[in-house]
Amino acid sequence: MGSPLQRGKMNLLLKNGRVIDPSQKIDAKLDVLIEKGKIVELGNNLDNKAKSIIDLTNKIICPGFIDMHVHLREPGYEYKETIKTGTYAAARGGFTSIACMPNTKPVADNQAVIRFIANRAKEEGIVNVFPIGAISKDLKGEELTEMGELLSNGARALSDDGKCIQNADLMRRAFEYAKLFDLIIISHCEDFNLSKNGMINEGFISTKLGLIGIPKAAEEVIVARDIQLAEFTKSRLHIAHISSSYSVELVRQAKKRGVNVTAEVTPHHLVLDESLVDGFDTNTKVNPPLRGEEDRIALLEGLNDGTIDCIASDHAPHARTDKEVEFDQAAFGMVGLETSVSVILTKLVHHKKLALSEMVGKFTLNPAGILKLDKGTLQKGKDADITVLDLRKESVIDANSFLSKGKNTPFSGWKVTGLPVMTIVGGKIVMEDGKVANK
Ligand code: DOR
Ligand code: ZN
Repeated sequence: MGSPLQRGKMNLLLKNGRVIDPSQKIDAKLDVLIEKGKIVELGNNLDNKAKSIIDLTNKIICPGFIDMHVHLREPGYEYKETIKTGTYAAARGGFTSIACMPNTKPVADNQAVIRFIANRAKEEGIVNVFPIGAISKDLKGEELTEMGELLSNGARALSDDGKCIQNADLMRRAFEYAKLFDLIIISHCEDFNLSKNGMINEGFISTKLGLIGIPKAAEEVIVARDIQLAEFTKSRLHIAHISSSYSVELVRQAKKRGVNVTAEVTPHHLVLDESLVDGFDTNTKVNPPLRGEEDRIALLEGLNDGTIDCIASDHAPHARTDKEVEFDQAAFGMVGLETSVSVILTKLVHHKKLALSEMVGKFTLNPAGILKLDKGTLQKGKDADITVLDLRKESVIDANSFLSKGKNTPFSGWKVTGLPVMTIVGGKIVMEDGKVANK
C-alpha cells in the first residue's frame, strides 16, 4: 500500500484521535472518514468503511488551519519566496489554506496578477491559496483598484498591507466600493507621519539603543479612523497584526457598538516583546514593531475575550541579503508559517494562557468566517482539510531546516513542545511527520 504520503486521495479513516472542531462544538474521541476528498462521517466503528486506516492515538484532529496573512512574494521577489516554497512551508506548519498579500512586483492590483497567483498555486502549490487584492493601484494610496474585477478573478479580500492609505477620503471610498462587492478590507494601520523612519517601538529601549522609534499612536490613530469609516459606511473591516493595548480597546468598544470589525494578532506579538531587540538581531525587526509587556498582556486578553478573532503569522520571508545588514537598513518582517502552531502551543496553550479549543477556533472557524471560505470545519460534505497535532512532541526550531526560503526568525533555537504532525488538503496527505509530499 506504500507510505501514507503516497496513498493519495483514496478513502481514509483517521482513527483513535481526539477531534476538536469549534464549528460543531465537538471535543471528543471520534474517527474521521474521508472519501473523494470530502469529510463523510465522524463517528465510531467505521473501520469496515475504509480501505486505509491511520492510527492517531494521542493526537488531536482539527479542521485544517488557515493563515490569513502570508506574503508569498511571487511574482517579483522569487529570491525571497515562491508560491511553491511558501505552500510547502505552510503544509509543514500545519496550514491547509493561506491568504496571500498583494505587495508583490507587480502588485496584485489587477486581474492578471490575481489570476497568475491563483493559477500558479493550482499548478505548484500543495495547500489552498486565496489571493488578496490591493485596495489602491500599486499600493500608492492614490487611486482605487477595480475591485469587482479582482473579485471575479479570485481575490478574497482587499488590503494595501505593508502600506496604509493615508488619505481618509480615499479610504472612505474604498469602504463604500468594497461594500458593493461584499469584500472585506484588511487594514495595515500605520500613520506614516507618525511612524516616519522608525524601526522599533518608541520608548525606553529605542532611546537606549539610539534607534528611531515608532509610537503606538501611529497604529492607533488609523485603527480609530478605520473603525469610524467602517461604521459610517456600514462596511466590513479587519485589522491586521494588531499590536497595541489601546488598539485592542478600540476594537473591543467598536464590537460592542455593533461595528463590523474583526482583528488578527501574530504569534510574535503574543509571545515576544521589545526587549528582544536589545541584541540588534535584525530578525526582531518587524512592522508593527514588537511592543512592551503591557501591550503583550492586552493582546492576550483581547484574544481570550473574543476581541481578537484570529491568529495569523504575517509570514514575511526575506533573503539573507535583506537582513544581514545594519539594523536601520534591514527589511521588516519575520517568517511564521513553520513556527506559529508550535510557538502558540508551547507558550500559550501549555502555560494555560489560551485554551486549546479557543486556539483551534482562532486558526480555523474564525478566519474562515472573515474570508467567507467554505472551510474551517469538519462538517459532513466539506473539503477534507485537516490538521493533526501532537501536543507532546518536542523539537528545536531550526531555521536552516525550513522549507520556506526565508530563514528570518527570532525563534530559531527555541525548544518547543507540540507540533503539527499531519496536514491533509482535500483528502490528500501533504505532510506527515514533517515530511512534505512533492506535488
Ligand atoms: O514586517 C512586515 N513585513 N510588516 C509588513 O507590514 C510587511 C511585511 C513584508 O512585506 O515584508
Ligand atoms: Zn503583512
